[in-house]
Amino acid sequence: MTISDISHRKRYLAEGNVYLPHIAVIEKIIDETPAVKTFHFNFKDEKLRKEFTFESGQFGEYSILGTGEATFCISSSPTRRDDLECAVARVGRVTNALHRLGVGAEIGFRGPFGNSFPLDYMAGKNLVFVAGGIGLAPLHSLIWNVLDNRAKYGNIDIVYGARTPRDLCFKYDLEAWEKDSSVNMTTTVDREAPDWQGNVGFVPAVTEKVAPAAKNAVAIVCGPPIMIRFTFPVLEKLGFTPAQMITTLEKRMKCGIGKCGRCNIGEIYVCRDGPGFSYEQIKSFRSDEY
Ligand SMILES: Cc1cc2nc3c(=O)[nH]c(=O)nc-3n(C[C@H](O)[C@H](O)[C@H](O)COP(=O)(O)OP(=O)(O)OC[C@H]3O[C@@H](n4cnc5c(N)ncnc54)[C@H](O)[C@@H]3O)c2cc1C
Ligand code: FES
Repeated sequence: MTISDISHRKRYLAEGNVYLPHIAVIEKIIDETPAVKTFHFNFKDEKLRKEFTFESGQFGEYSILGTGEATFCISSSPTRRDDLECAVARVGRVTNALHRLGVGAEIGFRGPFGNSFPLDYMAGKNLVFVAGGIGLAPLHSLIWNVLDNRAKYGNIDIVYGARTPRDLCFKYDLEAWEKDSSVNMTTTVDREAPDWQGNVGFVPAVTEKVAPAAKNAVAIVCGPPIMIRFTFPVLEKLGFTPAQMITTLEKRMKCGIGKCGRCNIGEIYVCRDGPGFSYEQIKSFRSDEY
């Protein structure tokens, strides 16, 4: 698989000045975990509200006036377009400021940027989604996209893990996927917990136990770099080739459009060429580069 196979280039939303954010209003906030909130938002401009399009896997540059800009994927599915969503982990300046905002607050949005998950390539195949912690955010968009077009795909395995039960994001959707008889859903936490009767173990080990078949399959793996690094060898052991494995890279970004050079790894600009890559594309990178 080459970059172009998994890059669906989208036209930039802002056809004039791509640095100019569009004003969006926060319409709903969900407390996912003590450190993660999902923000449902939509554009102030009525026309943009109607015309905005994006694909699963793409991201935006979100800004808070007077604080700065940060990169988050669009975690909602293009198949469910009442509003847009981003799930944000509180880690620093912008994310703390965002977590302090309430419903009705205005934020800036530039995008959608980056490539999308290769839905055409995935059609007709068995799909394996592996995620850890906030890494479920980009897959949340993709999983709903796939489930809303269920007939196009084969078997679906989802393995999702977090450190503790409290750290599991999108619990309402985990429940829905558990109940869906067309999905083989496995949720796990790293350590035993008093309020947890489910699987215990790290995501790579649990993926090995679930042992999804590699034949005619694509695995999409998103989560902390350490989880990704340990999951790829497990999938290889199960027979997946590097071309059958996809992930997203989260290099720090600034412009989001391949101009500033903030996010490059060698010749690749993660914002422009990614953030989605096959393992085949990135396996030659040093492990501290992704
Ligand atoms: C394509 C892409 C998609 C992303 N999607 C999401 C998402 O859906 N939800 C989400 O919560 N986060 C996401 N991130 C990460 C998010 O952009 C950063 O956590 C955010 O920019 C931090 O901003 P801040 O001002 O709060 O942190 P800062 O105050 O700037 O930094 C706080 C700490 O986080 C570290 N940090 C900041 N950004 C990154 C990064 N990109 N990689 C590694 N360490 C970093 C800093 O080095 C510092 O230690 C994504 C990143 C990329 C590149
Ligand atoms: S963020 Fe500027 S080149 Fe990628």
